[in-house]
Amino acid sequence: MIKGKHREAFADLVLEAMERQEPDAPKAKREKRHHRFSTMPAIIALGMHIRHDHKIPVIEQEMTVAAGAMNVLNALHAEGFGGMWVTGPFCEDRVLLDALGLPEPGRIAGFIFVGTPEKVIEDRKRPDIDDYFAIWKGETIVFGADAD
Ligand SMILES: Cc1cc2nc3c(=O)[nH]c(=O)nc-3n(C[C@H](O)[C@H](O)[C@H](O)COP(=O)(O)O)c2cc1C
Repeated sequence: MIKGKHREAFADLVLEAMERQEPDAPKAKREKRHHRFSTMPAIIALGMHIRHDHKIPVIEQEMTVAAGAMNVLNALHAEGFGGMWVTGPFCEDRVLLDALGLPEPGRIAGFIFVGTPEKVIEDRKRPDIDDYFAIWKGETIVFGADAD
């Protein structure tokens, strides 16, 4: 977790990662990224200590972190906080990962921004569940979501 006075230095690292990967990023985008990381009440880094030689396949190790992250989000919201999962190319930056104590093949599944919501966010329009759910009846399922 990154919080308190260390946010500023961490935001500098994020910005440096961005400058390595997107040297042409506009100033406004760079400033917004730095501002978010330096002012967010708390930031949870979703670290993955991947083991390529482990009996658990890498995809399961990664999905485990994602499932844990979802539980963290649910817990935050249940306790009245707000959480937002963010990713970006900077999550692949080796300098940033090393600073977080995640040397190769360590990675992160992103960050969860943590705060207290200032307003109720309107829900977005949701896809039709019938396009994504089916009961298998012996025939190959064709999902509406895959229709042209
Ligand atoms: C792996 C992952 C990465 C995400 N990265 C971002 C991101 O970089 N920026 C962002 O605004 N939201 C990000 N989100 C949040 C999603 O856009 C979305 O808001 C969230 O999954 C909740 O879904 P809903 O808004 O449809 O309820 C991410 C979510 C996940 C699961």
